Amino acid sequence: MRVLILGGDGYLGWPTAMYLSKQGFEVAVVDNMIKRYWEAQVGVEPLIPIRSLRRRIDFWNEITGLKIKSFIGDISENSRFVYNTISNFDPQAIIHYAEQPSAPYSMVTRNSCLETQRNNILGTLNLMFAIQRHNPDIHIIKLGTMGEYGTPNIDIEEGWLDVEHNGRKDRVLYPKRPPSFYHLSKVHDSANLEFACRIWNLRVTDLNQGIVYGIETDETILHDDLNTSFHYDEYFGTVLNRFVAQAVLGMPLTVYGKGGQTRGMLNIKDTLKCVELAINNEANAGEFRVFNQFTETFSVYQLAQKVVEAGKGLGLDVSIGEYGNPRAEAEEHYFNARHTGLHDLGLVPTYLDNKIIQRMIDVVTKYQHRIDRANIEPTVKWNSK
Ligand SMILES: NC(=O)c1ccc[n+]([C@@H]2O[C@H](COP(=O)([O-])OP(=O)(O)OC[C@H]3O[C@@H](n4cnc5c(N)ncnc54)[C@H](O)[C@@H]3O)[C@@H](O)[C@H]2O)c1
Repeated sequence: MRVLILGGDGYLGWPTAMYLSKQGFEVAVVDNMIKRYWEAQVGVEPLIPIRSLRRRIDFWNEITGLKIKSFIGDISENSRFVYNTISNFDPQAIIHYAEQPSAPYSMVTRNSCLETQRNNILGTLNLMFAIQRHNPDIHIIKLGTMGEYGTPNIDIEEGWLDVEHNGRKDRVLYPKRPPSFYHLSKVHDSANLEFACRIWNLRVTDLNQGIVYGIETDETILHDDLNTSFHYDEYFGTVLNRFVAQAVLGMPLTVYGKGGQTRGMLNIKDTLKCVELAINNEANAGEFRVFNQFTETFSVYQLAQKVVEAGKGLGLDVSIGEYGNPRAEAEEHYFNARHTGLHDLGLVPTYLDNKIIQRMIDVVTKYQHRIDRANIEPTVKWNSK
């Protein structure tokens, strides 16, 4: 099966490309390297040096004999590029990772908000129109986030909610209350995609993914030249990845406020398995299918405690810091999110344990000379004018 991966230069896109090509899929990747531009804009870099996409693809071919095609271009600005790529590669499934992925980045200024929503929403619209014209049967697997839901005081369902109102019943898209302009861009994407399923009979799986952690997959560990982009900074670093870097530096862990913020999380290896399950079990024509893609929930404070514990086992004295919360979010709240869809399809989760955190600490220690302390503490404030 031919699978096109949008965002193939990224943290998740590159490992997915290698993994799927090893599973026997014919893989092509799309990227315009804009993440590297956004990194330069805010003055951050991935912890581990990343070779160019071309170099990594060639090296993957050298050591495995497997080929990955690449198409370099912007899916949000260049609709012709999107049409041409899809008609040239003729994929059966498209995994769409190609978006600005950071909530803090989207909250820096009006421009960063506009850039996030322009890039994300227009890219998804171009993709929808190209598929409608080329082949409406192509299965879109779109990465959304668990953050879209916010923290409602009721159970979170997988995308849809059955409601009864004034004696009548209906099934509606789950009402979302996102906590940033970034998360809002994903909600707008979901609404556009659901509409496209209704009017054009497209088939879409929306993966509301939790927070991903991890540095390594079975493929990245084959050689340093296959590493993926790992961030520990306040913009693009996810919470556990950040805590590990802070532990290595001996800095107090950046728990915001009370640390009771509870989130769904998953290992990077499970992201790859989830998208594979989605490809192999496609949505029906006209179906907007939603899976909540996470395997475990932790509060931020619980995660910090896990890093303290893992650090202790390695002789590190890790402490938990007290930071004012730069975000506008509940620090103690109800959180019960359904996540049975992917498990029903056969997902066997990788659960977070001491060994996994300690391995992350080891890898980060190897590159700790590259950590820029100035990029760790939070500076972006949600309520700044
Ligand atoms: N990493 C996580 O914890 C996480 C959690 C939930 C959801 N997600 C979502 O998963 C997706 C991938 O996340 P990631 O962490 O790999 O991000 P990433 O920034 O590392 O990768 C995204 C890639 O897409 C490319 N891209 C962005 N806009 C593009 C455009 N207009 N045209 C072509 N290429 C473009 C970027 O250059 C980058 O290489 C994102 O949509 C993100 O919102 C990530």
